[in-house]
Amino acid sequence: MTAYEYRAGLEGVPATQSSISFVDGQKGILEYRGIAIEELAAKSTFLETTYLLIWGELPSREELSAFENEIQYHRRVKYRIRDMMKCFPESGHPMDALQASAAALGLFYSRRDLENPAYIRETVVRLVAKIPTMVAAFQLIRKGNDPVQPNDGLSYAENFLYMLNEKKPDPLAARILDISLTLHAEHTINASTFSAMVTASALTDPYAVVASAVGTLAGPLHGGANEEVITMLEAIGSVENVRPYLEDRLERKAKIMGFGHRVYKVKDPRAIILQDLAEQLFEKFGRDKYYDIATELERAVEEKLGNKGIYPNVDFYSGLVYRKLGIPLDLFTPVFAIARVPGWLAHWKEQLAENRIFRPTQIYTGVHDAPYIPIEERRSSMTTME
Ligand code: CMC
Repeated sequence: MTAYEYRAGLEGVPATQSSISFVDGQKGILEYRGIAIEELAAKSTFLETTYLLIWGELPSREELSAFENEIQYHRRVKYRIRDMMKCFPESGHPMDALQASAAALGLFYSRRDLENPAYIRETVVRLVAKIPTMVAAFQLIRKGNDPVQPNDGLSYAENFLYMLNEKKPDPLAARILDISLTLHAEHTINASTFSAMVTASALTDPYAVVASAVGTLAGPLHGGANEEVITMLEAIGSVENVRPYLEDRLERKAKIMGFGHRVYKVKDPRAIILQDLAEQLFEKFGRDKYYDIATELERAVEEKLGNKGIYPNVDFYSGLVYRKLGIPLDLFTPVFAIARVPGWLAHWKEQLAENRIFRPTQIYTGVHDAPYIPIEERRSSMTTME
C-alpha cells in the first residue's frame, strides 16, 4: 500500500476491531455489548455495567455480588497517596490531580502481569474502586480537610457522594448519579479511549494507561465540555439573552459547548436520558434557572445548526445534573473520568488480547536537503518570556 488518504482527526478511519460498544450516529443508537443504553440506564447499575463492559456478559447474581464486594474492599487509598495529594496546589484543576494520582498508583502496584486474567481483574477492581476515592480526597484536601474514608455500608454512587459531602446522600440523588455513570461508561473510539489504547499497545502498565486517558479527557473539546457548558449558561444569564449570545458566537465562528459530535448527527441518546434525569432532580429538589436557558439554547441551536447535524451531546445536560447533585463545577470532568474507567479498561483488555503497537504514518510536508546554517548567520525569531 503506497497511497494514503489523509483524514484530519482520523475521521471515519477504523483504528481497531472491537466488540465492546456500538454507535449509530444517524439513528441515535448506543449499545454496550449489544444492549441498548436506554435498557442499561433503566435496569442496570454502574458496577453491573462495568462487569458487562470488561468481561462481555452480564454477571450472574453471585458474580455481581463477588465483584461488588471486591470493589468495596479496595476503595481505600494508601495514606502515602493521600499525603502526596496534600502537596498538590489547591488552585490546581482536579483533573490534573486525578491524572497525577492515577499514575502514582502504578508506583504502589508495580507488578505487571499482562497475560494473567487474575492480574487483569485485580487491576480493574483497584482502578474502579480507587479513582472515586482519589477524586473525593482531593476535593476535601484542597478545602483544608482530611479525606473521608469510604463507607462500607454504601453503594458505589452513594459512597462517592458521601465522601464528597460527608453525609449520606438522598437515595434519588445516588440512583441518578449511578445512572449518569452508566451513561458515560463507554463510547467506542473517542479521544481518551484512543489515548488509552495507544498507551496500552506499548504494553505499559495499566495505571499509565488510565493516566494518559484522564489527560486526554480533560480537554474542553472532550470531557472538559461539561464544565464549559455551565460556564456558558452562567454567561448567558437569562432566557432573553440566549439568541443574542448564539448570534454573537456564530458570527465569531466560535463553538457552542455541549453541541455537536463527530459521530452523532442527531441528539445524543445519552443527552435525552440525562435531560430526563435533570427533570427528575428538579421535581424533587427545585428547578434550576439554567435549565430554562439550556432548553431555549437547544431550540435556538437546532433552528440555526440542525441542518448541519449539530444537536446536544452527552455533556450538555450532564452538568445540570451534577450541579443539582451538589457536585462542584470543576469536579464534573473528574466524575466523567470515574465513569469512563470501565470503558478505558475494557479497551485495554481487548487491546492486550490481540496487541500490535500503534504506529501510524504521516504525510510529510516539510523540506528536504536543507542547508545547515552556521549559528552566527542565523536570524532570531524567538519570543522571550516576560
Ligand atoms: N457549535 C457550533 N458549530 C459547531 C459545533 C458547535 N458546538 N460543533 C460543530 N460545529 C460546526 C463546525 O463549525 C463545522 O462547521 P463548518 O463545516 O461550517 O466549518 C462543522 O460543524 C463540523 O465541526 P467540526 O469541529 O469539524 O466537527 P468535529 O467532528 O471535528 O468535532 C466536536 C466534534 C465535538 C469536537 C465539536 O462538535 C465541538 O467542538 N463541540 C463543542 C465541544 C463539545 O461539546 N465537546 C463534547 C463532545 S461529546 C462528548 C465528549 O467527548 O466529551
